[in-house]
Amino acid sequence: KHIAVVMGGYSSEFEISIGSGTVVCNSLNRDKYEVYPIHILKSGWFFVDQDGTKHPVNKADFSFNSGTETIHSDAIFNTIHGTPGEDGYLQAYWKLLDIPQTSTEYYQAALSFNKRDCLSVLKGFGVLCANSFYINKGNEIDMEQIVLKTGLPCFVKPNRSGSSFGISKVHNIEDLMPAIDLAFTEDSEIIIETALNGTEVQVGVYNNGSEIIALPPTEIVSENEFFDYAAKYLGKSQEITPARISEEETEMLQQEAKRIYGLLNMKGITRSDFIIQKGKPYFLEINTNPGLSKESIVPKQAREAGMTLTDFFDILIQNVLK
Ligand code: DAL
Ligand code: MG
Repeated sequence: KHIAVVMGGYSSEFEISIGSGTVVCNSLNRDKYEVYPIHILKSGWFFVDQDGTKHPVNKADFSFNSGTETIHSDAIFNTIHGTPGEDGYLQAYWKLLDIPQTSTEYYQAALSFNKRDCLSVLKGFGVLCANSFYINKGNEIDMEQIVLKTGLPCFVKPNRSGSSFGISKVHNIEDLMPAIDLAFTEDSEIIIETALNGTEVQVGVYNNGSEIIALPPTEIVSENEFFDYAAKYLGKSQEITPARISEEETEMLQQEAKRIYGLLNMKGITRSDFIIQKGKPYFLEINTNPGLSKESIVPKQAREAGMTLTDFFDILIQNVLK
């Protein structure tokens, strides 16, 4: 079978996605699959062969040349973080072309990539979330109103982004405007949330073909003020798997993470992030293409669950192959 591993993308998370895609390419079972790394760049889409030569992808049918052969992929392993592979655009395109792909489908991806809309849907089902305030570029900004709603400290986040790009933790009202300006460099919509107080935990959830499974949770202990970019990728944090929480808390967290996966009708591997505050899990966000790079959490959780990455990624591919 021909498997295209799609990575890169148009967002600030480009490099991280290349890291994830490379881990996937190196882990896939070569006895079963012909693996083709595909780079999605603003300047074009390319199959990058072993010599590093770039072969353009034909956007009419997502085919590309390898040697003298024209390859039509049997399935796509989607490892793009951010746009256009985690927010539904490519998923819709592959759907139209009838090429199966490993991650959440277009509508569910678009919904869950939009933090405001995802929180708003989940709140309706009793999922606990921080108080939040939404601003669209061009809206009048009233600092007093924001602080009234969220209190201080609060987090200012781009509404549609990942890897903590553009996020600030704000302690004083004077620091709110610069934080808003920074978030607007990532997205034209932003969300401001109450800073919760508790333990950050992250849970990978996937469907093994017959049931939804939660991986062992990871606890985040950041040296920085929150789990920011440096904490995530430059070693400024400790990530402890399994999280040092009680069995009951682990069970409760995994149940809630699986319920959210089901409510949002997810597919493939996702990772939901929570803060446990006073014994209750507060949902922060769900990542429908979670990081799979060397630094990332989900690969550690899969190993903790007793799987090799080869076995784990195989499940995700087998779930979608026709
Ligand atoms: N957005 C990053 C890659 C993650 O959630 O792991
Ligand atoms: Mg994220």
